[in-house]
Amino acid sequence: MNQKDYINKNQERFLNELLDWLRIPSISADSAFASDVQKAAEFVAQKLEVAGADNVSVEQTAGYPIVYGEKIIDPSKPTVLVYGHYDVQPSVPDELWDTPAFEPTVRDGNIYARGACDDKGQVYMHVKAFETMMNTDSLACNVKFMIEGEEEVGSPNLGIYVKEQKEKLAADVVLVSDTAMLANDIPSIDTGLRGLSYVEVEVTGPNIDLHSGTYGGAVANPINVLCDMISSLHDENRHITIPGFYDDVEIVSDEDRAEMAKTPFDLEAYKKELEVDDVMGEAGYSTLERTGIRPTLDVNGIWGGYIGEGAKTVLPSKAYAKISMRLVPNQKSDKISEIFQNHFESIAPKSVKVKVTLHHGGEAAVTPTNSKAYRAASKAMEATFGKKPIPTRGGGSIPIVALFEEVLGLKTVLMGFGLDNDAIHSPNEKYGIFNFYRGIETIPYFFKYFAEEE
Ligand code: BES
Ligand code: MN
Ligand code: MN
Repeated sequence: MNQKDYINKNQERFLNELLDWLRIPSISADSAFASDVQKAAEFVAQKLEVAGADNVSVEQTAGYPIVYGEKIIDPSKPTVLVYGHYDVQPSVPDELWDTPAFEPTVRDGNIYARGACDDKGQVYMHVKAFETMMNTDSLACNVKFMIEGEEEVGSPNLGIYVKEQKEKLAADVVLVSDTAMLANDIPSIDTGLRGLSYVEVEVTGPNIDLHSGTYGGAVANPINVLCDMISSLHDENRHITIPGFYDDVEIVSDEDRAEMAKTPFDLEAYKKELEVDDVMGEAGYSTLERTGIRPTLDVNGIWGGYIGEGAKTVLPSKAYAKISMRLVPNQKSDKISEIFQNHFESIAPKSVKVKVTLHHGGEAAVTPTNSKAYRAASKAMEATFGKKPIPTRGGGSIPIVALFEEVLGLKTVLMGFGLDNDAIHSPNEKYGIFNFYRGIETIPYFFKYFAEEE
């Protein structure tokens, strides 16, 4: 049987198995779901085994396990290391989901569930593509799977594992499906990921919440102060004002920017979809440049004081914010976190105390478009979409990709099949049925072309 027939014959089962996996709430950020995260690992390990992988194991770490499996058909053939993650983001706010996050529902050609696109749906394409190649005797390369359960919390243990298992993970390229394309009829391949620095700040004013009439106007209000401090982090051109922040930023050449400007992008449709009357960002850069090649600073959450029903006149003692910075090549996450901390402490008025806590981070990565692996991915997508994919620079982060290069000396190909509007991390996350099957169909072509290129 050929691959196409095999996929057609088994398509319903492929989808139903994915739906079963999506029912497991593998939220890595919330320890209440620890046993579900473990279950999701065992689920995919078992599917890899059934599909024909050897040496399948659920490898314990100090955190959630890493699922490993491999098929070595011929040591003289190239080896593809497939990376993905089985953990998902929290589903909150649950009331904004049209159907529950962990009761996957198929409607209008989409699978709605937390993890549908990020990343279970995309990982499962690889498992089913592997099964297809095994059952049609067409696996063209050796393959190793490494599916982790801590991507959404910064992969704290995967780096250690990769350093310890260098030999076991030896390969020729890393293949990842955890990014998006421009549109279902405009295939694209991400050639970059941004880095990340994530910090939390706490501003303390008086030692207890005070009556805002008795004390207001005379004692620093930490929420007012925090807002002032946060506002001062951007200037009127939406440039970040932290001294040294841009020092190491890679300058993208005019040629590359001209190339990026050719990327099909409809700003009006973008605004309409988000229901915003205008976009906002750093002066002098297009929307795609603002998300692709420029660093940013965003408040992810801010809280303090009275937020219950009605009005309570109070001058709060404390205010908090969580702040993320997306970084570009050459910026170092640790250094940026440190200069943020120094700057934030230095701009605090004497009337408050400031504490900055550093969370996880990661480095940016760019992937070449002139490699054998990129060419194989490009030809694979061209074979199934009938169009050559466009290289794009994605705005998200997958911190481990930089380590693949640093520790394993491997380049990564980001052959993702999601869409920007798949609402990953948001309510009503979805993944197109079309995208799921198109991925399953495309991956074997990657293996075939990569084997031919090598
Ligand atoms: N799959 C995403 C990364 C991504 C999203 C890449 C969109 C390209 C386009 C990944 O699961 C993710 O969400 N990463 C986190 C980083 C992590 C350290 C929490 C992110 O980007 O916020
Ligand atoms: Mn992901
Ligand atoms: Mn994610």
